[in-house]
Order: sequence, then C-alpha cells, then structure tokens
Amino acid sequence: MDDRPIGIFDSGVGGLTVLSEIAKRLPHENLIYFGDTARAPYGPKSRLTVLGYARQISRFLLRQNVKMIVVACNTATALALDFLQKELPVPVLGVIDPAIATLGHFGRQGKQRVGVIGTRSTVRSSVYLYRIRDAFPHYSVFQKACPLFVSLVEEGWAEKKVTAHIAHEYLDELVREDVELLILGCTHYPLLKNMLRQEFPGFELIDGGIETAKDVEHYLQTNHLQRLQGKGDVKIFISDLTDYFQTLEKLFFGGEIAGIAEVPWDDLARDENS
Ligand code: DGL
Repeated sequence: MDDRPIGIFDSGVGGLTVLSEIAKRLPHENLIYFGDTARAPYGPKSRLTVLGYARQISRFLLRQNVKMIVVACNTATALALDFLQKELPVPVLGVIDPAIATLGHFGRQGKQRVGVIGTRSTVRSSVYLYRIRDAFPHYSVFQKACPLFVSLVEEGWAEKKVTAHIAHEYLDELVREDVELLILGCTHYPLLKNMLRQEFPGFELIDGGIETAKDVEHYLQTNHLQRLQGKGDVKIFISDLTDYFQTLEKLFFGGEIAGIAEVPWDDLARDENS
C-alpha cells in the first residue's frame, strides 16, 4: 500500500491517451501528468535534447513525491528511458516494451509480420526494431515514420478523408509487405484507430497506451505499491497553457481533472541548476 501519486509525462497532449488508460485501469491511484506543451513536438528532435527535457521533467515529478514515473511519450521512451531508469531513485516504465510484449500472443496465432509506426525520432532510434528482434528473432519488422499524423489528430481531423488519404501514402508499403500487426508507436495514433480499421482491415492494431496501463498495474501489484482505496485524482501540469489546451484535453482525455497548472519550462530548467 503506497498512497504517493504516479507521475506520467509526455511531450504535450498526446500522453493524455496513456493517462486515460491508466486512470481507467487504476481508479484508486492519484495521477500527476506533465505535458511539455511549450517544447513539443519531441518527434523531430535529437536524443540529447529530448533526454535533457526528460531529466528536467522527471526531477519536477520527483519533487511531487511520485512513487513511479511513466514515460508516456514514445519518442522520450525511445531516446531517454534507459538513462532515466539508471539515474532515478524510483521505478521508471515506458510505453515501448508493453506493446512489444503482446507480440508473443499474436505470434502463436501465426501473425509474425509487424509494422511499427511513430515519429521520425522514434523510428530513427530503431528501439522498437531492436527490441522486437531480441524478443522475437523470427518476426519480420517494418518501420515507418508518420509525422503528419500528430498534426492531423491535434487538428481534430482523425476521421477526415484527407487523413485516410495520407495514411495510404504512409502505410500502403506496409500492406505490400503483408504486415499483419501494426504497433501504434506514438501517443496520438490511438485516435486514428477507427480510420485505420476501416482503411486497413488487414492490420491488427496494437495500442501501447492500453498495454502500458496493464504493465503499470502489474508492476504496482508485484511490488506492493498500489493505493487500494479511495478515488484517485488527476492533476495536470503543462509548460504552456493556452485556450486550445482545453479542446485538446477533451479530445485526448475527457476524464475528471482535479486541476490544471502551468509550470513554465524555464522554471524547470532553473530548478535543475539550483
Ligand atoms: N508524444 C509523441 C510520441 O509519442 C508525439 C508528439 C511529439 O512529437 O511530441 O512520440
């Protein structure tokens, strides 16, 4: 039994999809979410930059007395998770391994051709590719960066024709490779599930957010860190608060929120040096 909150962070609003899955699965837990809206997107950025941001945010979350940190961003997981796990005094979980863990189940059904879609930096890091090859050496893996999906989802255009059209530009090559399993390796992509199911009925979609929530639950249970009673609350901190955030929050989360506060990014950087 551990009443301390779980810290969850992302480059911006996308990680709210992961927050939503965790909140649904673990209703007793207090959740603190940090979205780095001032410095998003992380998708096109380098390892060094994303690692620096991830370290600053983790320190902020530690000051909120979190018992665990979940890196809800695929790009930050790909570029920074290993470092954070070594450096931080609390357990740190990412979104990549939980998605990969489901592949064994599908493999037993004979599905071993995997597509991974994500931001440019996630795909360039090839973390998904290496991890899948380690765990399932017989599987075939095809990666594709789909950077426009982030803007299309944030524009609220997930169901528009233009998005389906762009999806074909990106993904038809995976269809030609007979991909059977598609890992949605970016926080925004779960909002494209309806369109993807309609346009690409041959793909089984793997949602890292749902798998991450299961992983967090499993970790808390096995380490006796759960909060077992009472209704947990959700607090959101972001580094740039605009009117549009409310719209995006409804699109990506829509649950009950105890409070939203702004923590300017230069405060994060200053705290680091103090
Ligand atoms: N959260 C990022 C991810 O999952 C997508 C948005 C961004 O590029 O910052 O990779």
